[in-house]
Amino acid sequence: MISSFSMWSDQPSDPSPDQPSALGGPGPSCAPPAVPPAAAGLYEVVRQRRDVRGQFTGEPMPPGALHRILGAAHSAPSVGLTQPWDFILVEDEETRAAMHAHVSQERACFAATLTGDRAERFAPIKIDGVLESTLSVVVTYDQDRGAPAVLGRNTIADAGLYSVCLAIENLWLAATAEGLGVGWVSFYREQFVRDLLGIPERVRPVAWLCVGPVSHLETTPDLERHGWAVRRPLDVVIRRERW
Ligand SMILES: Cc1cc2nc3c(=O)[nH]c(=O)nc-3n(C[C@H](O)[C@H](O)[C@H](O)COP(=O)(O)O)c2cc1C
Repeated sequence: MISSFSMWSDQPSDPSPDQPSALGGPGPSCAPPAVPPAAAGLYEVVRQRRDVRGQFTGEPMPPGALHRILGAAHSAPSVGLTQPWDFILVEDEETRAAMHAHVSQERACFAATLTGDRAERFAPIKIDGVLESTLSVVVTYDQDRGAPAVLGRNTIADAGLYSVCLAIENLWLAATAEGLGVGWVSFYREQFVRDLLGIPERVRPVAWLCVGPVSHLETTPDLERHGWAVRRPLDVVIRRERW
C-alpha cells in the first residue's frame, strides 16, 4: 500500500520537551517556527525535485540555463578541493541512440532476474529519458585529480566519489529551480560508456543525466506511483546518540 506520507515536514520529529536537541523543540508556543524566505525557497526546490523519465518535451534549453546549472554543480564541496568531476555534454542523436540501446539491454537483464509481483510492477516502469530529453550530461570522476596528496581521502577512498555525487545533486536542484527536469540513468556498464564517449580508463562515468525542459514535475516519485517502493518517514531514520 502506498503511504500518504509527505516527505517534507517543517516540524522536527517528536523532540521531548525536557530533552534539548539540535533538532530543536516545538518552542514555547504552538506556532510553527518562522522559516527564513531564502530557506523556504530552497526547501521548496528540494520538495519539488523529481527524477524525470517520461515528462521531457525535447524543447531547447532556455538561454544560459545549462551554464548556470553546470556552475551550480561545479560549486559543490569536494574532498581536498579536488573538484574531481567533468561534465560531458551529449547531444548527438547517434550517440544517444547507442546509449539507449545499451540501457534497454541492461533493463531487460534486470527484468529477467525478477519474478511474481516484482516482475509485474517493474514491467511498466520507464527507466530513462535518453532519447526524449534535450541533452545528456555525463558526470565523471577522475581519481587522479589533485592526487596523490588528497587532503581528506587518505582514510576513505570513496570521498572522491561522494564529491561527484554532491556536484550532481547541486545540478539537480539548480535545474529544478530553473523549472527543468533531470533523470539519473544507471542502467549501464561503465566500460560501455567509457568506450562510447572516449573516457580514459582511470575515469569513472558516475551518472548519465538526462536534462531538459519538461511538461511538469510529478509530485510523487515514479517508483512510488508504480507501487515499487515507498518513501520512509523521517522519524524512522533519525537515531539519537547511537545507532
Ligand atoms: C545513484 C542513482 C541512480 C539512479 N538510477 C536510475 C535509473 O537508472 N533509472 C531511473 O529511472 N531512475 C534512477 N534513479 C532515480 C531514483 O529511482 C529516484 O531518485 C527515486 O526513485 C526517488 O524518486 P525522486 O528522485 O523523484 O524523488 C537513480 C537515482 C540515483 C540517486
